[in-house]
Amino acid sequence: MNALALNAAGLRYDNGFTALSDITAQFARGSFTALVGPSGCGKSSLLRLLAGLEQPTIGSVTGLAQSDIGFVFQEPTLLAWRSVAENITLPLKIEGHARSEIDTRLAEALQLVGLTDFADALPRQLSGGMKMRVSLARALAKRPPVLLMDEPFAALDELTRFRLDDDLRAIWRQQDCTIVFVTHSVTEAAYLAERALVMQEGKLKAEITIDQAGRTDNFRGAPTYTEACAELSQALGHKSGHKSGAA
Ligand SMILES: Nc1ncnc2c1ncn2[C@@H]1O[C@H](COP(=O)(O)OP(=O)(O)OP(=O)(O)O)[C@@H](O)[C@H]1O
Ligand SMILES: [Mg+2]
Repeated sequence: MNALALNAAGLRYDNGFTALSDITAQFARGSFTALVGPSGCGKSSLLRLLAGLEQPTIGSVTGLAQSDIGFVFQEPTLLAWRSVAENITLPLKIEGHARSEIDTRLAEALQLVGLTDFADALPRQLSGGMKMRVSLARALAKRPPVLLMDEPFAALDELTRFRLDDDLRAIWRQQDCTIVFVTHSVTEAAYLAERALVMQEGKLKAEITIDQAGRTDNFRGAPTYTEACAELSQALGHKSGHKSGAA
């Protein structure tokens, strides 16, 4: 069963620029999809279509209501003068949940991202990686069936990114949500997702299934991972150097 689907969808912005054309793709419930492609190819536009933040100018987007979707932006977008806890609970208060329900969800979200001890901290007292965790916790606290993430870890150092990648996979397993994750990084896509959609100039260029066999704690050393990286690089038109000796 699909959580979301794009049906021959296209998006033309007000200035006449066609950012997306003829996109057909299904996002199965509980699946983890990475969206990869060069800067300007339309990844954020596609995510905004899925989120209902833009309407397709042709074709359709079907599936869940906008309220069922959590969106994590590239920047943490936290309120500077509010504590971590307040940043996480504000959307829940706006949705009108009971105090006890809000407290339960806050505790759970803080635990999922490992920030239980920082509930009362202000954003300026946190590192970049911690701020990103707060942003993720804010999205998770809404318990959305679908989580759309636009290069959420791109600004972080590699070690922090690796750790958050691991956390995200664990959260995905635990919460059983549908994730669409935009990234520039071939290695991050191959590490995180079960499937990668490769985009180029507003179109879907390839769909690559990522073999989940051998996924253990130290998956970065597994052959299936290296193979997925090579396949993705090739689809993106990079010279991978991994797979064949031919120039
Ligand atoms: N509101 C807008 N009006 C007109 N054109 C836009 C608008 N938003 C994006 N575009 C154009 O649409 C194209 C795709 O933009 P988009 O932001 O989706 O790319 P992207 O793949 O997310 O790039 P990046 O990796 O740099 O974030 C770009 O050429 C961009 O200039
Ligand atoms: Mg973008």
